[in-house]
Amino acid sequence: MPGASTLPGDAMARKRVAVLISGRGSNMVSLIEAAKAKDYPAEIALVVSNRPDAAGLAHARAAGIATEVVDHRPHGKDRAAFERVLQHALDESRIDFICLAGFMRLFTAEFVLHWQGRMLNIHPALLPSFPGLDPHGQALRAGVKLSGATVHFVIPETDAGPIIAQAAVPVREDDTADTLAGRVLTVEHRIYPLALKLVAQGRVRIVDDRCLVEGGAASDGILMVPND
Ligand code: GRF
Repeated sequence: MPGASTLPGDAMARKRVAVLISGRGSNMVSLIEAAKAKDYPAEIALVVSNRPDAAGLAHARAAGIATEVVDHRPHGKDRAAFERVLQHALDESRIDFICLAGFMRLFTAEFVLHWQGRMLNIHPALLPSFPGLDPHGQALRAGVKLSGATVHFVIPETDAGPIIAQAAVPVREDDTADTLAGRVLTVEHRIYPLALKLVAQGRVRIVDDRCLVEGGAASDGILMVPND
């Protein structure tokens, strides 16, 4: 292949990604769609849900992706026992990167540290603002004029960790949590595939808890609210 000799062997191989979901799975679908492109540097090798009834599982199966249900309930409060089963599934599929996409379970610090720099999450707010539950309600109560979405590497602290990509949307005065969530979701579906691409291409370095993105210039537009 022309040019292949200039790259280290595994730089050409598509990274194997597991997407972890608990529900609807629209971000998972956006990753599956992006990975259909021949030049996308990652493939969605596995979708794991902790809930057998997650709607996203059917979409993954319809797309021909291997799925696993790792139900957390038999393990009760024993997170490590749940994670052992999960890790086994990840190992079996030779997973390089994990993408959390609406996955509603917390991990132990040990699991997070094992996947440090290899596990991504998306949160529907401009972190570090509004981590945790009800980010859209938090944004509306704070009266911010812009909100958005953040893709970040996972660290033991919830909804924190080096930020890979963010995208902003305007907040309207008549927004409800639902209308704002819908607007934010449209940009989630764009930045998650972008962030995974950059990571899988090896273009993201973590330096002093910040991500430096090779060739990652900001778009030059500004988003201003109000825009009189
Ligand atoms: C998304 O808003 C994501 O940011 C958050 O949970 C929601 C999951 O939606 N972590 P979906 O299951 O990807 O449709």
